[in-house]
Amino acid sequence: MCGIIGYCGPRAAGEVLLDGLKRLEYRGYDSAGICVGFDNALTVVKSTGKIAHLRGIVPAALPGTYGIGHTRWATHGVVNDVNAHPHTNQAGDIAIVHNGIIENFSVLKEKLISEGHVFRSQTDSEVIAHLLSDFYEGDLEAALKAVLHLLQGTYGIICVHAQEPNRLVGARNGSPLVLAVGQNEMFLASDVMATLAHTKQVVYLEDGEVVSITNDAYHISELRGDKPISKKVEIISWELENIEKQGHSHFMEKEIFEQPESILRAIQGRLDPENATAHLGGLNMSNTELRDIERVKIVAAGTSFHAGLVASYLMESVAQIPCTAELASELRYRNPIVERNSLYFAVSQSGETIDTLSAMRELKRKGARVLGICNVIGSSIAREAGAGVYIHSGPEIAVASTKAFTSQLAAFYLFTLLISRMHNMSFEAGRGFIQNLSSLPDLVRQGFEQQNHIRALAEKYSHYRDFLFLGRGLNYPVALEGALKLKEISYIHAEGYSAAEIKHGPIALINDETPSIFLVPGDSLREKVISNMKEVKARRGKVIALCVADDEEVKNTADDIITIPKAGEMMYPFLMVVPLQLFAYYTALKLGRDVDQPRNLAKSVTVE
Ligand code: G6P
Repeated sequence: MCGIIGYCGPRAAGEVLLDGLKRLEYRGYDSAGICVGFDNALTVVKSTGKIAHLRGIVPAALPGTYGIGHTRWATHGVVNDVNAHPHTNQAGDIAIVHNGIIENFSVLKEKLISEGHVFRSQTDSEVIAHLLSDFYEGDLEAALKAVLHLLQGTYGIICVHAQEPNRLVGARNGSPLVLAVGQNEMFLASDVMATLAHTKQVVYLEDGEVVSITNDAYHISELRGDKPISKKVEIISWELENIEKQGHSHFMEKEIFEQPESILRAIQGRLDPENATAHLGGLNMSNTELRDIERVKIVAAGTSFHAGLVASYLMESVAQIPCTAELASELRYRNPIVERNSLYFAVSQSGETIDTLSAMRELKRKGARVLGICNVIGSSIAREAGAGVYIHSGPEIAVASTKAFTSQLAAFYLFTLLISRMHNMSFEAGRGFIQNLSSLPDLVRQGFEQQNHIRALAEKYSHYRDFLFLGRGLNYPVALEGALKLKEISYIHAEGYSAAEIKHGPIALINDETPSIFLVPGDSLREKVISNMKEVKARRGKVIALCVADDEEVKNTADDIITIPKAGEMMYPFLMVVPLQLFAYYTALKLGRDVDQPRNLAKSVTVE
């Protein structure tokens, strides 16, 4: 939520900041702004709307080679120009950008107002600029440190002072901040995508660290105490082309169609057919430790939670290990019991979701062993977990998650294979599992043959206002994910349910205005799901069914079908979810929605 960037170097800062903000826009797009310093004065340009709009109002030859920028996902204060960042002090010589929430801002604001400060915005962030001007005695870093001691809450902050040209100071606590080291230029940003066009060298900052940058130097120190901190410069493996649309209309389209490759990247080099098992070196666990695991618990949010739910079904049925998935936001406040011999997974594409991060911290505090399943290398969850599985999806930019979901599944399937082979799975069964997993990239690619048909169906059904998504077993969480995708990007109301559960309520919604999308793979629950489908048909409900090509009974019962390739029973979640992603995508296209940046959402939810 909210993206921040700072630049010090020889180039026109306005352009660099706008380009960086464009890359950070997935984090929030309610309003945006930049502040550029020149000749001991700061110029702020900010406005409601997206970066494209901001670009239109920033003067073409804005002078200045250092500055800060922000793209907002509103928390405190409505979406308007005044509440857009950067915020300045009264004199206008200090400016700040902030990602996070200052929880004690109202107390601080009241005090500042009583001392004569005049506030312009309703944001929590503006207090930081006012406090900085009170504490400033010629050294911005010292002033920021003094201010940070007063703040409660979360922040990634970058600030600038007109009297300290070509210098920026930043700090983080609970919100991400990365230092990127270029050739005679330095950047601070919420993530590496903002600066990838300029440099691949980055330093990941930790909570409680303060960083000061000039064109050619940086200095990191502890918030509490002045001790300088020396940190490793890391090299990012992502290429610039990974964060371009590459001919696709939307990032979401690109990411959906990338899945054969992204699934392959997740499993590549990790399968061991000779021993019919998997290798996950990042787990940092000995075989004995793995064998001692008696239960697995998964915490996550959004789409990652749905991947965790699929994993919970899979692990119990294949590995015969009790496994549950829980929403991180719920777990963190319910005083969870950490049982011995339990293994926890924190699953997060971004590795920055605050609820998942906080749940992980809570579990670790209580002695749990928590592994991360993350996409973004060096992200907070990945670093704090210290061990886990990177899914290697490559950058996922569309707000609605697609390829990360299938790669998270792939990671869990690998783990299930590994642990099953240590518990109860035979060599033969392990070989079968490997064969099934290896066939996935091709099967997903085969599924794309239905692309035009799915588009036609999405257009045909796009005028309906309510949908039910129904599946059972492993495909029940996929139904939840299908409903989430449709909601997120088309703004159509959709509910995911276990097909068996409709009789306990949702069937009351069925009429010819509420279509149901049934997931009917050729698995052991097929007959049961067909019965549920018939119950819906008997009540004049329209049915779209996802089934294998030769399933005549489903074909004859449903109004429309989307066929999926035949696969091993456990593999259907991969093959079911892709058509559902496409269905949501084409529906949103037909309705003219902002597919990559749907209203009110942000990709990386770093506030509670
Ligand atoms: C937001 C995004 C979702 C994502 C969820 C969890 O809600 O819009 O697409 O699934 O956060 O994100 P994470 O990065 O933790 O997987």
